[in-house]
Amino acid sequence: MINELTRANFCNQRISIISSKLTGEYTVATDQVSYQQPDQVFPLHPEQQFFLDEIIEEKITDARVLEIGLGSGVLSIGALRAEAIYVTALEINPRAKNFAGFNILTNGLEGKIEIRDGDVSDIWKPVRGDRFDYIISNPPFEPTPQGMTHYLHSAAGIWGLDFVEAILKELDDHLTAAGHGQIVTFAPGNAQEPFMLIDMAQKYLKGETKIKVNPISIKFSEFVDRYVENGQATEEQVEKIKKMAQDNDVSHLYLCVLHYSQGERSLTVTDTILAYEAWLNPL
Ligand SMILES: C[S@@+](CC[C@H](N)C(=O)[O-])C[C@H]1O[C@@H](n2cnc3c(N)ncnc32)[C@H](O)[C@@H]1O
Repeated sequence: MINELTRANFCNQRISIISSKLTGEYTVATDQVSYQQPDQVFPLHPEQQFFLDEIIEEKITDARVLEIGLGSGVLSIGALRAEAIYVTALEINPRAKNFAGFNILTNGLEGKIEIRDGDVSDIWKPVRGDRFDYIISNPPFEPTPQGMTHYLHSAAGIWGLDFVEAILKELDDHLTAAGHGQIVTFAPGNAQEPFMLIDMAQKYLKGETKIKVNPISIKFSEFVDRYVENGQATEEQVEKIKKMAQDNDVSHLYLCVLHYSQGERSLTVTDTILAYEAWLNPL
């Protein structure tokens, strides 16, 4: 448990408590939302809660896990608390590696997580040739107007799916035969469904895919307008991405968890029973 001394040392950081059925309650330090540099260590949001709620007990037990995009370590720590045996985690942000190291220590998990340097242009490079029982990621996934400088934890191309696409392309090559992949992501779509993620899964995944969709969607235009309100992008940049969305029939953004395992090809898309409200806001 975190004590008063560590709390004091991290007084400029954000200390959050998260909990799920499989992980129980635990504490992680991240950056404050007010630390607005590109290397911000991602604060906790409903997406990590959604991810932890979706971990599959029989698959995580004794699993050797790969996490792509460790950040504060919240998901890797969650995986270990849910009885995974070992985690290999990739991260490109040195600041995040420091936070994760601290969080691993304060959660008593030293020796159970190996942090490897990520590769900016080839995300699988640090583990090419390796296979894992459970691959997890909460990748950068925010639709990002061209020319805008965004956080390392969120920049992911026009549709926010560049990183997800890179993961899906090689997921099969890195899973053991009974292995499982679990990714949480924003996904653009129309008023009915996150069709861009569905199309991408159909394109790359040859096994069993289940997409769980948070039933609360938001308007794509409202999401990108926030970039102007926050001073992150110009009106011109945002108008351009809104026009692209219109031209591609994208009107809504969804928060989804994609589950994947090898086996007979199938794809199901269902709403979650639990609704994750205010999913753009930090917990
Ligand atoms: C949305 S954050 C999620 C962090 C953490 N897993 C969580 O759930 O809070 C995505 C993370 O991916 C990292 N990242 C970005 N590009 C990467 C790459 N090529 N390889 C590994 N990590 C990367 C970012 O620095 C960031 O920490």
